[in-house]
Amino acid sequence: MFDPAAGFPVQRPRRLRAHPRIRDLVRENRLTVDDLIYPLFIYHGTNLRREIGSMPGQYQLSLDRLGEIIDEVADLKIPGVLLFGIPEHKDALGSAASRDDGVVQQAVRLIKKRAPELLVVTDLCFCEYTDHGHCGPLVEVAGRYDVDNDATLPMLAEQAVSHARAGADLIAPSGMMDGMVKAIRQGLDASGFTQTPIMSYSSKFASGYYGPFREAAESAPGMGDRRGYQMDPANGDEAIREAAIDLAEGADIIMVKPALAYLDVARRLKDAFRVPLAAYNVSGEYAMVKAAAERGWIDERRIVLETLTGFKRAGIDIIMTYHALDVARWLKEG
Ligand code: PBG
Ligand code: ZN
Repeated sequence: MFDPAAGFPVQRPRRLRAHPRIRDLVRENRLTVDDLIYPLFIYHGTNLRREIGSMPGQYQLSLDRLGEIIDEVADLKIPGVLLFGIPEHKDALGSAASRDDGVVQQAVRLIKKRAPELLVVTDLCFCEYTDHGHCGPLVEVAGRYDVDNDATLPMLAEQAVSHARAGADLIAPSGMMDGMVKAIRQGLDASGFTQTPIMSYSSKFASGYYGPFREAAESAPGMGDRRGYQMDPANGDEAIREAAIDLAEGADIIMVKPALAYLDVARRLKDAFRVPLAAYNVSGEYAMVKAAAERGWIDERRIVLETLTGFKRAGIDIIMTYHALDVARWLKEG
């Protein structure tokens, strides 16, 4: 029979929740500024700082307007930036991607000069550089157009070497081509960049959450979609196989992208491999938070910090997020 005097319940988890100092002591995961990487869109031309409609607070920036934001990132002690380039001229092969005077290559040199301690990560792909918007050159197979996987590989290696030559600290291939990590590793090594690490977008899903990014990077595929190379959102085991392949090919860091709908994949990758794991908190995830916050429907600061802490709990070490500047400020305020 229930007897309150007997001290029931024996287990009282609330004992550790009552005092704020005890809550601090038993907290399992902490989000810190050291976890963050801030993505930037480098646009051709001059004197451009154009806000992206579906990503309030994020901008297309020309090289001459990059310095101001880099100073801000460095002042906030955010460890690194992730660069995307939007070139003036696009063609079928995306040839502007691998030029030493390309928009990303110039941005790398500029940042390295302005803030030498800042880590410069470059996204490695062709979709911002091709006129058809796909992640490599197209080939016709049985009346359908598809990205030519094996033709893309040496081109990726060439682009990676060009990024490394400009001074990139970490190369992040995002195109989901088979064999891309091996091709890039060989290319970098052959040019003497044996110490330049690769962060592979190892499980990048074909996602509706990239919509705002494609506006920002002007990289929406002109025809078709990316389901022929990006992963089916329904698949989790396949993410493990993809990561195993990339690690065997020499990836130093693996990634899951998007983040919110794929935290189970993140946890599985962490448990399976115990290697550094990154996640990309993508444009659509950012846009949803901003839209709701603008209407006063949610507490933006609280929701963003809760979400990013959830990433840490899921086993994610490195967080690519458009919220990085705000998060760095919030964490500083305490
Ligand atoms: C290019 C690339 C994309 C993103 C990062 N690299 C878009 C895509 O695959 O269409 C998405 C980033 C975001 O949505 O914030 N391969
Ligand atoms: Zn791409």
